[in-house]
Amino acid sequence: MKNIAVIGAGTMGNGIAHTFAQFGYKVALIDIAQTSLDKAVATIEKNLDRQLAKERITADEKAQTLSNLSTFTEVAEGVKGAELVIEAATENIEIKLKLFQQLDELCDASVILATNTSSISITKIASVTQCPDKVIGMHFMNPVPVMKLVEIIRGYETSDEVTELIMETSESLKKIPVEVNDYPGFVANRILMPMINEAIYSLYEGVAGVNEIDTVMKLGMAHPMGPLQLADFIGLDVCLSILEVLHDGFGNPKYAPCPLLVNMVTAKKLGIKSGEGFYSYTPGSKELVVASNFK
Ligand SMILES: NC(=O)c1ccc[n+]([C@@H]2O[C@H](COP(=O)([O-])OP(=O)(O)OC[C@H]3O[C@@H](n4cnc5c(N)ncnc54)[C@H](O)[C@@H]3O)[C@@H](O)[C@H]2O)c1
Repeated sequence: MKNIAVIGAGTMGNGIAHTFAQFGYKVALIDIAQTSLDKAVATIEKNLDRQLAKERITADEKAQTLSNLSTFTEVAEGVKGAELVIEAATENIEIKLKLFQQLDELCDASVILATNTSSISITKIASVTQCPDKVIGMHFMNPVPVMKLVEIIRGYETSDEVTELIMETSESLKKIPVEVNDYPGFVANRILMPMINEAIYSLYEGVAGVNEIDTVMKLGMAHPMGPLQLADFIGLDVCLSILEVLHDGFGNPKYAPCPLLVNMVTAKKLGIKSGEGFYSYTPGSKELVVASNFK
């Protein structure tokens, strides 16, 4: 495979496009919002400059990566000629089902349709297409150019051939793919999200403050980032929607999202992307400041 289309140019889409382009694939990056595409290209350039400064890539490789990228606001235009489409649009089941119906009509039967969903059933997404054997989960981690893992999720009908090809494609990006089956939250988020939710419950019940909870987990468990800071990094709306999928999918109250998380998402305190979550963020500053609500 040489031609890839990535749908959604947000946090994950720009990282996925960057990584494929860096490893020589021609990448069409698609988003309904031109502003998201502009922001994504600016982010990719900034991240390439960082890799260049650390001597991880050369100036030629930076130029080559940028020349492998093109952007589109129309899905029909962007997926022309793609052999693999990776959907990384907003974590919303209606949006994803609609996109896969559209891809099913637009793409040839040989095209592999992957989704970067954090939690939505691959089998459900595949069920709206005529080729469920060609649909697979390709769950990259944030930030994509840096993180080694790709969780490869087989839907109920995903074929062995497609799974093998996607494992090989992930390895061609110098990533380490791990194959898992399609149950709510797969493996990564089934384990991570209850930990984040429990950290939010500890704050909500007054067991400890934001800094204290994160420090316990950083120093005590050798986590590079505390769970509240990680929730801000992922996006509190994304965390809430994953917990809802776990709660609905297993019907077990242990996955019920903490009311504090629900309140924060309702108040649009979404973490880094909105400028405030458990911490408040000032563009250009790396200092970690606890949000005023938690002081
Ligand atoms: N944020 C994370 O840490 C993380 C990690 C792994 C996986 N994911 C998953 O990756 C996916 C994307 O998440 P994100 O954090 O990048 O979201 P985001 O909100 O940063 O970006 C989503 C982008 O999708 C675009 N979009 C929405 N509907 C579209 C459509 N119909 N066609 C084209 N573009 C459309 C939006 O304009 C936006 O630019 C989600 O499924 C999420 O669960 C997120």
